[in-house]
Amino acid sequence: MAAHALGSVAATLEELARIGASPDGGVTRTAWSPELFEAYEWLGERMRVLGLEVEVDAAGNLIGRWNAGEGKAVVAGSHLDTVPSGGKLDGALGVVAAVHAVARLQEQGFIPARPVWVTAFMDEEGTRFDASLFGSRAFAGEDVTPLGSRVDTHGTTLAEAMQERGYDIFRAGAANRLGDVHAYLELHIEQGPVLESEGTQIGAVTSIVGFRGYRVRLRGQANHAGTTPMALRRDAFVGAARIAVELRDFARERVGLTANVGKVAVLPGGSNVVPGLVELTVDTRSAVAEGVAELERFVPELIARVASEEGLEAEVEPTSSLQPVALDTGLVAAIEQAAAAEGATSRRLPSGAGHDAMVLGRYVPAAMIFIPSAGGISHSPAEHSSPEEVELGMRVLAATLARVASA
Ligand code: HGY
Ligand code: MN
Ligand code: MN
Repeated sequence: MAAHALGSVAATLEELARIGASPDGGVTRTAWSPELFEAYEWLGERMRVLGLEVEVDAAGNLIGRWNAGEGKAVVAGSHLDTVPSGGKLDGALGVVAAVHAVARLQEQGFIPARPVWVTAFMDEEGTRFDASLFGSRAFAGEDVTPLGSRVDTHGTTLAEAMQERGYDIFRAGAANRLGDVHAYLELHIEQGPVLESEGTQIGAVTSIVGFRGYRVRLRGQANHAGTTPMALRRDAFVGAARIAVELRDFARERVGLTANVGKVAVLPGGSNVVPGLVELTVDTRSAVAEGVAELERFVPELIARVASEEGLEAEVEPTSSLQPVALDTGLVAAIEQAAAAEGATSRRLPSGAGHDAMVLGRYVPAAMIFIPSAGGISHSPAEHSSPEEVELGMRVLAATLARVASA
């Protein structure tokens, strides 16, 4: 199929966004959900028409292989899973644009010197099990089986969710392809305000932020909201609220740190009941290792102090622990050259968002291309980049792929 037959990248993204479309204009395709596998099937069809060999591997990664040339493959990918009611571009842009880039290179008569793979990694977001980067970690040969016992809000384990789709977490190790990878490239929306505010068209990403994520359970005592004296309450929600505010203050007072409490479950959930149990998630980040270490010291200490002052028991489960990653300087330069060749302005910048490239980049040369995000907004139905920005991003990805896959 020639590139024009695929139509524009923006049109493909609009069509794909119908799979998992939510009433508020967002998209919800959670890991291991029917919607995600429907998206795999839909995009896999387009890969096959380009002559790619398509599979979904043992960790639920969609892979399309352009089996040209010889040696280790250049991988271009991202993810098709989303946050709840997310945008149409986060993740999907990188996978769809990689398919279009292959079509463009084929139409130009480009013959790669090495295989080119297009991948959609499973559960980049970690929405359901807080097991983010699951698929890229398995693809990179990391042991993901310990994540199998992680439960969702309904008490279903990750291993059970996989089993429902015919996958065995104890076989996820078969997804290890690290030895076959020459380099990894990922096109992604910036999910921040820098490119748009400067009017710069392309971002050549230099590094990706480090993470420390936690699931926290605070146990107090459910009691009558009207008759329990204020001094005798062991209110789990007040403890959670104090932790959220102190996290915000700690990060706000320091350069380059972020902290977020994105999920809070208040139980038993009666308006006239003092909350006896609260489950919350904590997402903290820093662009530098020292910042991550500071957060790693602060978060458990904060939770223990507030729990003790509020008469609560606290359980803290680390869910993600990733160091900041520097991306490959040679690939960053190749992206800048490709952008210039496409007549695009570019600049280097770090990523405050996590990506599959932060996993691959630990083991193989990896780099990312950003396009502007309208208003810097992402993880929201308001997420937007123009069709021209999306098309230019794809052309720069194609030109970078051509450079990296030519030898
Ligand atoms: O959370 C992140 O930074 C990414 O969107 N998963
Ligand atoms: Mn995301
Ligand atoms: Mn993403």
